[in-house]
Amino acid sequence: MPIPRLPALGRRSLILGGAAALAAPAVARAADSSAPGGSTIRLVARPGRAALAGPPHPETAVWGYDGRVPGPEIRVRQGDRLRVVLENRLPQETTIHWHGLRVPNAMDGVPHLTQPPIAPGGIFAYEFEATDAGTYWYHPHVRSLEQVGRGLYGPLVVEEREPPPTIDRDVTWVLDDWRLLEDAQIAGGFGNAMEAGMTGRIGNTVTVNGRVPEGGFAVRSGERLRLRLVNAANARIFGLVFEGHEPVVVALDGQPVAPHAPEDGRVVVGPGMRVDLVLDMTGQPGARARVLDTYYARLEYKLLEIAYGAEPLRDRPPTAPIATLPANPVPEPDLARAERHAVVLGGGMMNHLEGALVDGRWLDAREMMRRDLTWTVNGTAAAPGGHVHDPLVVLRRNASYLLAIRNETAWPHPMHLHGHSFRVVARNGVPTRHREWQDTVLIPRRESAEIAFVADNPGDWMFHCHVLEHQAAGMMGLVRVA
Ligand code: C2O
Ligand code: CU
Repeated sequence: MPIPRLPALGRRSLILGGAAALAAPAVARAADSSAPGGSTIRLVARPGRAALAGPPHPETAVWGYDGRVPGPEIRVRQGDRLRVVLENRLPQETTIHWHGLRVPNAMDGVPHLTQPPIAPGGIFAYEFEATDAGTYWYHPHVRSLEQVGRGLYGPLVVEEREPPPTIDRDVTWVLDDWRLLEDAQIAGGFGNAMEAGMTGRIGNTVTVNGRVPEGGFAVRSGERLRLRLVNAANARIFGLVFEGHEPVVVALDGQPVAPHAPEDGRVVVGPGMRVDLVLDMTGQPGARARVLDTYYARLEYKLLEIAYGAEPLRDRPPTAPIATLPANPVPEPDLARAERHAVVLGGGMMNHLEGALVDGRWLDAREMMRRDLTWTVNGTAAAPGGHVHDPLVVLRRNASYLLAIRNETAWPHPMHLHGHSFRVVARNGVPTRHREWQDTVLIPRRESAEIAFVADNPGDWMFHCHVLEHQAAGMMGLVRVA
């Protein structure tokens, strides 16, 4: 897959890293003025500075929650009420979308659709119940390609009511991909139409928890980790290989799945997606092991090194089998009765597009290009910030649906549905092994996926590609649950 070569910080100096002895930093926790059974958190979206590249590079000017990248990790217990008061000190309007959480529509953070955008200087209070345990994240839904691209995102962990047994340590890695210039500042050119029609904005610098992880990730022999991966990149898909280790996937997009080894030993995380792993630290004290990202052929690189300390935690990791996490209260779709809808993804480079419906009007390809629109969902292209769109589908509340999504384009798309988790029941016509619950389904080029869910959450919900440049260039629609 072609990734543009970029006039920027060299891969060698950044992605491959030097030998500085920095540990992969942990994410700061959100300060929580919690009453039992509830949490109130204040977040300020504002410019800040972050040592993304680490010394000797200068700090990078970013936008972050509380000025930090990533924003503070919000942790609540399943069933808790979470209240987050957001203050906007950005030079643009903003909102927060609680990616993957099944929140009431008015809390979903989609500007002009579920709330007015928060003006600079404004405040908005989000409040909802954390119904599902798992790994989620939060980010703006206004001009996402730039706001998320400049660092506005944070992890949100909903802990199980009973902590899962035999886990020694719970670790979050928020992955991001940046396009930095020689002086470690973020390159402009957000929304470049050429890349929008291809891979989206792929960068040249990969961070874990807001830092190029040069010094390695410190572990102890015999530990059993729960590792929560969050892909906050605009466009980069990660495919992680843990050399010498056997990660076990226990949750996808927050939702439990039967524990299993990832396909081909590689953990694939598309933009917007999360994967929870259980990782047994089977190496010897003092050992090092590489974590590689091999997703793009011939563009493999070392993400970081696992660095074993001299002191083991115990002789070997727990031998108890890795338990399936307790299921969340997601309603089970009735596949026999589910109403079937076809969804076709079209457009992009290397496809011939005649035109599309935009805000109810037919535009030919040239007119679309003039508006930087290049992708379609069922022959329509939605511009973000474009006001009321006609829904792609109108669903009856509490009925079961199956969306058969066909990707007729030459690029992969991580398609995200707001307000619901869905089961991925088939790929290319073949039933999936795990019938995994997801909120974002990665569909390779020219392939298809069938997703099924109960439309139990009333309101207007976005359905869009999480390659943020694709979303901005039309690959978005609205699903109405009436
Ligand atoms: Cu994480 Cu509508 O997006
Ligand atoms: Cu896409």
